This record gives sequence, structure tokens and C-alpha cells, in this order.
Amino acid sequence: MSNTKLLDVRHVSRSFRVGGLLSGVNMMAVNDLTFSLDKDKPEIFTIAGESGSGKTTLSRMLLRDLDPTLGEVFFEGRDVSAIKKRNEFTAFMQKVQPVFQNPFETFNPLRRVEEYLFDTAINFGIAKDKKSAMEEADRALHLVGLSLEELSRRYPHELSGGQIQRISVARALISKPSLILADEPVSMVDASLRMTIVNLFKKLRDEEKVSIIYITHDLATAYYISDRIAVMLRGYVVEMGPVEKVLGSPLHPYTQLLKESVPSPEPENKEDWAKRIGLSTIEVKEYSRQGCKFAGRCPKVTERCKQADPPDVEAEGRTVKCYLYSN
Ligand SMILES: Nc1ncnc2c1ncn2[C@@H]1O[C@H](COP(=O)(O)OP(=O)(O)OP(=O)(O)O)[C@@H](O)[C@H]1O
Ligand SMILES: [Mg+2]
Repeated sequence: MSNTKLLDVRHVSRSFRVGGLLSGVNMMAVNDLTFSLDKDKPEIFTIAGESGSGKTTLSRMLLRDLDPTLGEVFFEGRDVSAIKKRNEFTAFMQKVQPVFQNPFETFNPLRRVEEYLFDTAINFGIAKDKKSAMEEADRALHLVGLSLEELSRRYPHELSGGQIQRISVARALISKPSLILADEPVSMVDASLRMTIVNLFKKLRDEEKVSIIYITHDLATAYYISDRIAVMLRGYVVEMGPVEKVLGSPLHPYTQLLKESVPSPEPENKEDWAKRIGLSTIEVKEYSRQGCKFAGRCPKVTERCKQADPPDVEAEGRTVKCYLYSN
């Protein structure tokens, strides 16, 4: 296979058994997902979609934290499910690094954050001794607009949410990764500081040539920083393409609805937002629905939508999974 791809996700699906062992059903949390990232063209690729659409499940498969039920994930031409040995896994993790939603969970509250950064440098073999570990930590911190001096001897609780999230990005940068998977990295950060974090991703793409998979509910920041976006609904990607096209002039009725109801940046309004877009607790019902998963909520639904999965159609510079655009 060509090794011009950094990441190549091919027809990946993941099912989970929900309900009892006998009475339960298999639910496809991620369904036949395909996309790739080029090695030579670092980009910010956003995965958007409401709660329970399969974003974290996808991210876990990309991080080798969960095996796909079907399909393959290739990183730099190598099937990641073939990574079995510890040293191979370390080498993989050096190149593919996560940034999580709650930065406070990344750091042990009882340890100074700098120690954590030093350990990361040593564990990945980036630094051989304390002195070079300090240099590497300082280098990574400078990339996020901080310095070792500023953090000196601080514990996580002595830092602000925005600072600690920037430090968790710095932690991810210590191993000099080529891909960062950021799962809701700004949802717990103050609205006023969100742009600092997302601007940081832009800078990493442009100056450090790091590709970023940005997982979010927040279409406003997604629009602002992404090159491409994939909109997920109940395990399926329903629309994917350049962000100006997909969010600028959405074709799928679900993307249209999402765009109309861009959530307020205030986290306490997330529930209201979920209500407005008709998100209910009948997730599993939607997952197991025949045909298009959006049929029950779609203003443009027709009979055939309820019968069989819509095809992936190439239309107006993006891919859209909807009968409205098929012949
Ligand atoms: N380990 C698991 N066992 C069973 N079901 C799971 C498991 N992990 C995820 N699921 C189910 O898979 C679906 C997708 O979950 P996932 O966490 O990937 O969604 P998400 O898009 O990340 O949601 P959110 O925006 O709330 O983080 C959900 O219905 C969830 O309940
Ligand atoms: Mg999630």
C-alpha cells in the first residue's frame, strides 16, 4: 500500500452488546467508517455529532484502545491491530497522542505537573536524564505559550482550567507526535479560553506539521479551525468534506439541523441544546432503526428512508449519506 497516508481508516465498525446477555442486542456504535489523512498535508479533521453518535468509540479505535469489530485502521501503512509488543505500542503512542476532555484527569493531583512532563519525556526515550527532560518539557511548554519556569513546582489545582489544558497539550507534544486525537478538548474550558486552545491546534498544524483529529460538539470552533469535517449520527458519517462546504452549505438534513441549533458556549445549556435538536434517551432505538438513523427526526423523510440505508453520494464537493441527493 502507498505510504503517503498518515492514517487510513477503512470500513471500520464497532458493535457493543447492550441489554442482557440473552435479551440484548448488538448496537453498531461506529458503522462502516472510511477516511484518511495525508502524511504530507497536515490538517485538522473534525469529527462532530451529538452525544452518543460514536465519536469517542472511533477515537478509542484510532488510539488502539479498542479493536474494531470490522475493518482496519492503518497508521503510516501499518495495521494497528497488529501492534502487540510493548515496544511497538510505545513507538505507536509516541506518534499518536491523545488529549482528553478533562485535563484534570490527565494529571495526578498529588504530583507536580512538571514531574509528569519529565516522566513522559523519559518514558518515550525522548530524554535520557533529568536535564534533557527539563529541556524537552520546556520546549513543549513553549509551543503552548507557557514555560517551565512559570509552572515551577505547581500542582494541578494551582493552575487554571485553560492552563492545565494547554499543559495537557504540551504533554502530548513531548513525544513529537505526528497525530493528536483531541476528544472534546475545550468542552470543560471556559468559553473565553476556548479560542486559545483551538488557535493552538492551528499553530501546531501550521508550524509543527502535526495533524489533529478534533472531536467536538462545538460547531463554532469546528468551523473556525477545521480543514475537513465528518458529521456523525448514530455511528454513521452522514456528511463529510471541506468544512466550508459541509458547515457553510450543509446538504444533509441532520447537518442542517445541527448548524441551525449551534449550542450556546455555556456548558449548562448543552442539555437545552440536546432537547432542541430532538435528542432523546431513545438512543438505542435509533441505533437499531432500519434505514436512515435520522428518519425519525428528519423534516424531509420519505418512505424509502425508513427501509434501507441511504447511499453515500458525492454531491457539491462532499460526501453525503442521503436519498435527497441520489438518483
Ligand atoms: N464500552 C461500551 N459498552 C457498551 N456501549 C458502549 C460502550 N462505549 C460506548 N457505547 C455506546 O456506543 C454509543 C456511542 O458512544 P460514544 O461514547 O462513542 O459516543 P460519543 O459520540 O463520544 O458521545 P459524547 O458526545 O456523549 O461523548 C453510545 O450509545 C454508547 O452508549
Ligand atoms: Mg465522547
